[in-house]
Amino acid sequence: MDNVVHRLTVVILAAGEGKRMRSRQPKVLHPLCGRPLLAYPLRAAHALADRFVVVAPPDTPALRQHIPPDVRVVEQRERLGTGHAVLQAKDECGDGTILVLASDMPLISAETLERLVSHHRTTGAAATMLTAVVDRPHGLGRVLRQGGRVKRVVEERDATDDEKKVTEINTSIYCFEASRLWSTLAEVKPDNDQGEYYLTDVIGIFNRRGARVEGVAVADPREALGVNDRKQLAAAAAVQRERTLDRLMEGGVTILDPATTYIEDTVTIGVDTVVYPNVVIEGASVVGSDCTIGAGCHLTRATLGDRVALRPYCVITESVVDEDAILGPFCHLRPQAHVGAGAHIGNFVELKKTRLGKRSKASHLAYLGDATIGDDVNVGAGVITCNYDGLDKHPTTIQDEAFIGTNASLVAPLTIGAQAYIGAGSTVTKDVPPGALVVERAAAVVKDGWGARRSAMRAAKKKKG
Ligand code: UD1
Ligand code: MG
Repeated sequence: MDNVVHRLTVVILAAGEGKRMRSRQPKVLHPLCGRPLLAYPLRAAHALADRFVVVAPPDTPALRQHIPPDVRVVEQRERLGTGHAVLQAKDECGDGTILVLASDMPLISAETLERLVSHHRTTGAAATMLTAVVDRPHGLGRVLRQGGRVKRVVEERDATDDEKKVTEINTSIYCFEASRLWSTLAEVKPDNDQGEYYLTDVIGIFNRRGARVEGVAVADPREALGVNDRKQLAAAAAVQRERTLDRLMEGGVTILDPATTYIEDTVTIGVDTVVYPNVVIEGASVVGSDCTIGAGCHLTRATLGDRVALRPYCVITESVVDEDAILGPFCHLRPQAHVGAGAHIGNFVELKKTRLGKRSKASHLAYLGDATIGDDVNVGAGVITCNYDGLDKHPTTIQDEAFIGTNASLVAPLTIGAQAYIGAGSTVTKDVPPGALVVERAAAVVKDGWGARRSAMRAAKKKKG
């Protein structure tokens, strides 16, 4: 067979209204484990497809932003059914095989699609359907066979009681030969309960013409879970999460309690990292090898080097932590924080748009915002960068080996030179030269015997009354 015959166009049906989601955004943009629903069929069919066509609803610019530039998009202006939807893609398809996918079936695997296409090609069928045998077929199209061969598909609402007992359902995933599909689709009539043009009717028409129709069942019926409402979205996400955790564990990551660990599909983690219970890792986060992610940590688009230790309850968003750093418990890295190699961040320390150098420490109760902090700096408990004057944010620079005493307030813009010392409790408003000591503190008043006199007064008052 030549290349033209072998060419495979994937048509993704995404123009359905998604009413049951009760949402203001198109159903296919709802995220599932970190990716929009639509990203899943695009990914599953990626290795097979020579080209992709998405059948989209009209006037949905937000949807286009999520579709890669090499994917063609056609609009279905009126939603007249799945058969009508496929017909909209005709001009973009060309010859060869057409693989039709639903946009709301994110769990279909690349392996299953490969199996479907290869079965279709070896048998030379006009159409091959992907089916699933499920416990609860309610609401789905039933696959009616005769002598083992697929004869037709009947929708739940058009089915007789006997037909409703069939547990093999249509997944809405099919392979067709272009040469026979278009002419047959043109014959489909909207003579059903919904008055729609059903793609499924093509199967019956092929059979009546004596064309070969094949049915391939999915090995794991969970792959055929469709997302029509938020409950099904959660159910599909649970399966996807399990797969992600399996992938990570197979790759050498220890997940102490998969049941309470929420890691999105977009995350990568190196070998021998240990993830404690109740951890959430989202977005394109990258975690190195030999790390410890303590209980309750929540990472969003975070990058962690190797051997980073997160003690429990660190919240890290859009930030970078270099190798061997130790963080937490209870620290907060807001966007654009960068913690250097071997640095320590302790409890109740918050960083925002701040770089903390190598081996530097901020061990307790600090706010470091818009700051550039060098290597081997010690930031004492309670230190605050006063970066905001009510109008603008200002930067603070702390050079290498400086020592910032407890409870210092650093009023930005401010530069503290290398090896400078800031005395505890100081409010520093002027730049500090390298190697200097600053103590900004009212002189203590010491009154000898004051406490003893006070006690005597109290005793006298008590006696009186
Ligand atoms: C369809 C199948 C049914 C199958 C079920 C599996 C038909 C007639 N029925 O039913 O046999 O068991 O899927 O989930 O095909 N879409 C459009 N334009 C339209 C209508 C639908 O693009 O005018 C898209 C939807 O976005 C969705 C897919 O086609 O991705 C399936 O449509 P949906 O309305 O969910 O069909 P079902 O009633 O579930
Ligand atoms: Mg559906």
